[in-house]
Amino acid sequence: MRYLTFALAKGRLAKKSLEMFEKVGITCEEMKDKDTRKLIFVNEELKLKFFLAKAGDVPTYVEYGAADIGVVGKDTILEENRKLYEVLDLGFGKCRMCVCGPESARELLQHHEMIRVASKYPNIAKDYFYNKKHQTVEMIKLNGSVELAPIVNLSEVIVDIVETGSTLKENGLTVLEEICPLSARMVVNQVSMKMENERIMKLIKDLRYVTSL
Ligand code: PRP
Repeated sequence: MRYLTFALAKGRLAKKSLEMFEKVGITCEEMKDKDTRKLIFVNEELKLKFFLAKAGDVPTYVEYGAADIGVVGKDTILEENRKLYEVLDLGFGKCRMCVCGPESARELLQHHEMIRVASKYPNIAKDYFYNKKHQTVEMIKLNGSVELAPIVNLSEVIVDIVETGSTLKENGLTVLEEICPLSARMVVNQVSMKMENERIMKLIKDLRYVTSL
């Protein structure tokens, strides 16, 4: 039996992913050690390997087959648009992709005016404004703390993830339009899906059962 390799998005999703895998008997004790500098973890008995990657890189590892399976947010899947199978909504990490800004920016969205949009997700933002709203915008790519942009007048609005809404609230911003709901998804390499079909289908079935509880 060959190893099945999992790429998990570093951060909030990784812990939840491991908790969910534990429920279906997939464990990796090594990975729980917070002080470790190791990058890859092995469960010899079950012939599994796990590694943590930057969320945005998980679809890349899976598309190229460096990982058979990935766990990553729907936001990253949409933004990266890689060739892979999205097989399961894991039901955690729920949040929304939204257009946000000060209340005063609401009318700029209604009149199809040329506005500046800052985002960590330029592809999602472009798709929304160009293909769904038919509004031409100037995209400004940022790498984090995107809520700053409308405050310091870098852009009129932002496209960003909203979970509790407290970051927006504390900065005097609000949700202006909702683009789509998001959550953690399991993705599978297209070749692995064929070559390791039985093991992967069993895993999907077990996880589907656990997520439905
Ligand atoms: C995300 C997102 C928002 C915030 C939303 O940022 O970009 O800033 O969380 O959460 P809330 O609605 O519960 O306040 P993250 O913490 O991932 O950091 P970032 O700003 O570097 O993207």
